[in-house]
Amino acid sequence: MPASSSAPAPAIDSALANHVRQGLSRTPKTLSSMYFYDDEGSRLFQQIMQLPEYYPTRTELGIFTTQQAAITKALRPAGNQPFRLLELGAGDGLKTKVLLRHLLEEKARFTYEPVDISSGALSGLAESLQKELPQLQVEPIEADYFSALAQVRQDAAPKAVLFLGSNIGNFLPDDRQKFLQQLSSYLAPADRLLIGFDLQKDPRLIRAAYDDTQGVTAAFNLNLLTRLNRELGADFDLEHWSHYTDYDPLYGAVRSFLVSRRAQTVHFADLNLRVPFAAWEIIHTENSYKFTRPQIEELAAAADLRVVSFFTDERQYFADVVLAPVQ
Ligand code: AVI
Repeated sequence: MPASSSAPAPAIDSALANHVRQGLSRTPKTLSSMYFYDDEGSRLFQQIMQLPEYYPTRTELGIFTTQQAAITKALRPAGNQPFRLLELGAGDGLKTKVLLRHLLEEKARFTYEPVDISSGALSGLAESLQKELPQLQVEPIEADYFSALAQVRQDAAPKAVLFLGSNIGNFLPDDRQKFLQQLSSYLAPADRLLIGFDLQKDPRLIRAAYDDTQGVTAAFNLNLLTRLNRELGADFDLEHWSHYTDYDPLYGAVRSFLVSRRAQTVHFADLNLRVPFAAWEIIHTENSYKFTRPQIEELAAAADLRVVSFFTDERQYFADVVLAPVQ
């Protein structure tokens, strides 16, 4: 565009831009937690996983550590057949490394295939695995989950698919069911799927996990606004926003919000968009569903899956459930 032009910059047309246009024009206003994970959001999430109040990560790690033999047995094909171990969402591999180490000790014949759309996440993980488990065969797949599964389906080797950390809890119920159904459609009879579910428990304990005293979860939620300022030229003033969260035992869901502390209008320079907020109006940013065992069984059955094994901890805070296609 010539320097003298005074026309506004063309409105940008990215997935985030379209999401913001839609999410902030409805009532109640919503933004997806999918957009929490820029570099700073991913760093804050790593911090969340170490918080004293955030029990899911350390509980799932405990389940893997104490039951690694039974879990890997439930995941492996019969005999010592070679298989592919796919993990949806690469993460830092902390929990998966427990299973990988055990499989290597058992001389299992497998390749580990972490799937992620972020090449940064994949290369960081591959590097740390190369150092810690040099004998492991790693084949990272840079793709979205279903493209990766479609790619892998061509191969006859059985596969085990991991979806850990209660990421399943961040889907709305309809989306969760569709996601599971789609996952299920990629599984052959000998394949296995391991999903981590956070279980329903004392509501105060759940709420505390999403409203920690150090304010890391608040910073994680508010970082979404910083991202919109940077990527869409918005002018959110973080002084006038706060994090609010609550656990609703009726729905079994933690819901997180960003609260506008006063009446204000936010300008998105790159979108040619102004969004008015009333005092105390909210943006709904996240759902974290918690499950019961009967719900998990129902969810599985509706996606043509059966529960092969249900691993949980002593307090029954979390469950790692191995599923197989119904034949
Ligand atoms: C990634 N996901 C499973 C986390 C959760 O518990 O819902 C994200 C999170 N949000 C706030 N704290 C952690």
